[in-house]
Amino acid sequence: MIKSVLITGANGGLGKECARQLALQDGVQKIYLGCRNEEKAEAAKKDLEKSTGKFVFDIFLIDVSDLNSVRSAIDSLDEPVEALVMNAGGWGGEHPMDTTENGVTRVFAVNVLGHVLLAEELLKKKMLTKVGLYVSSEAARGIPGMDERPNLATSSVDEFATIADGSFFTSRSDSIKPYAPVKYMGALWMSSLARQYPDVRLIAMSPGGTAGTEVTSSTSSLKTLMFQLMIKMMCLVGKMHKVEVGAKRFVDALLDESYKSGVFYASKEGITGPVGDQSEIFADLANEIIQNNASEAIHRFL
Ligand SMILES: NC(=O)c1ccc[n+]([C@@H]2O[C@H](COP(=O)([O-])OP(=O)(O)OC[C@H]3O[C@@H](n4cnc5c(N)ncnc54)[C@H](OP(=O)(O)O)[C@@H]3O)[C@@H](O)[C@H]2O)c1
Repeated sequence: MIKSVLITGANGGLGKECARQLALQDGVQKIYLGCRNEEKAEAAKKDLEKSTGKFVFDIFLIDVSDLNSVRSAIDSLDEPVEALVMNAGGWGGEHPMDTTENGVTRVFAVNVLGHVLLAEELLKKKMLTKVGLYVSSEAARGIPGMDERPNLATSSVDEFATIADGSFFTSRSDSIKPYAPVKYMGALWMSSLARQYPDVRLIAMSPGGTAGTEVTSSTSSLKTLMFQLMIKMMCLVGKMHKVEVGAKRFVDALLDESYKSGVFYASKEGITGPVGDQSEIFADLANEIIQNNASEAIHRFL
């Protein structure tokens, strides 16, 4: 049982659905909706109160792509949370390969850097007490026919740093390719962090191929338009699941202690169905040196 949880990216898609499912669990007293837009957050809060009949939601303003916003958000938290869901993310907006003031790409900032600061500060301050969940993707271990497995030459700290700053990628206009290596680094960081904090369960989980969220329906470029068409085809042949199914993976991992700290869980095969330890598919995920190298590279930008 958990009493309090903070969910980033909670005004829509998987984050909001995770908030809805958690509100219906026994014992959950406080759900912080981590959102960057106050209006959208208010609308989500009202909607969640109406759909659940529970009045446990608090708005927590945070833009995870902006480290100053993350720091202010942490300062505004006046009591510890038992659980944290690092869900905000996706393709990185209109210009995912633009560089932020911290020297990383936007897609890296939103999916990784802000969450690293958030989780590590909360852990240091003992403000995260039971379980943290980083939302990764099957793309991090490769999806045959859809997304190549991240292909690193050395997996050194320097090479991981090039994923963060974008120089790893030959084209800066490709808005799809950076996503998989970025989510891969997030999963590796989570495993590395889990070894530093053995008293808190720290897990990476993919929601699996989830239809109907912004991530799977926005069409900001020709490339993403092509991607959307592929997703529509996959929905037609039953290879994607509903948002309720994707978000339930997060809820299960938070509540069920048989999900082990340090492990990255995602679909055992393809992008839907039962979940399993992804290092059985991509052994590098369990390599502690590679995990630490990814983590060290991330810290160069903090
Ligand atoms: N859907 C899938 O098939 C799938 C598969 C694997 C992994 N995932 C991952 O699952 C997570 C949720 O995705 P989704 O499908 O639910 O996408 P979504 O519908 O686009 O939801 C993303 C949420 O993140 C928020 N967000 C984006 N940038 C933010 C920022 N800088 N600070 C704070 N919040 C921010 C969005 O808020 P705004 O409304 O303000 O933009 C929105 O609430 C993502 O990390 C995604 O990469 C999704």
